[in-house]
Amino acid sequence: MIVVAIDGPAGAGKSTIAKALAKKLNLRYLDTGAMYRAVTFAALNRNLDLSAESAIAEIASQCVMHIDDDSIIIDGVDATQAIRGQEVTRAVSVVATNSLVRTELRGRQRQWVSEHGGGVVEGRDIGSVVFPDATLKVYLTASPMVRAKRRVAQSGGDVELIAAEIAERDQRDSSRSDSPLMKTSDSVTVDTSDIPVDEVVDHIERLVDAQRLNKRVSN
Ligand code: DC
Repeated sequence: MIVVAIDGPAGAGKSTIAKALAKKLNLRYLDTGAMYRAVTFAALNRNLDLSAESAIAEIASQCVMHIDDDSIIIDGVDATQAIRGQEVTRAVSVVATNSLVRTELRGRQRQWVSEHGGGVVEGRDIGSVVFPDATLKVYLTASPMVRAKRRVAQSGGDVELIAAEIAERDQRDSSRSDSPLMKTSDSVTVDTSDIPVDEVVDHIERLVDAQRLNKRVSN
């Protein structure tokens, strides 16, 4: 089973690259950030206090979530658009520090991959915690200004403000005690600041091929 883990901070190009790579490798693509966002969306809809850890964890464990390449439906509500809105974006990193939620979503992520026979999985803790034995682990990064500009091009806003928000989210994602965003020693770092998407995808595809060959030789 092939699992490619794509981790890295916001705006590094994970979604674009992971989707394109999945297509090339004929694998499914899983956006684990969308799962944290969907739980946040459901919690906000219920007017829950985001620090109410067990109430929010209950959503993560009880909800019915359908996720595919272009949509996410939680408890029958299509949350595809709303999870990209400012309200969810501002709140999600708080929900992502909730260990009970993380445990629950990790289980769902592993189950999804096993049901789909592998996949290209993007997130923050995929190579470090969710799939430590992934075929290939990629840590995607880009300079803070490039990342902020990409977000502005996607969803509008003021670049300085977005840069500050991204920096705050990076800080929260990398300093939380449970599965923080980190580069593992066995991951390949790719800086996407100045490289076109198709070149990055081709490069990662070659790395996946090399890993598969390596594993076949050593087995
Ligand atoms: O990739 P994104 O911006 O959609 O992620 C949303 C939030 O969820 C972000 O604060 C990081 C967090 N996240 C996480 O902690 N672990 C993951 N595997 C994926 C996302």
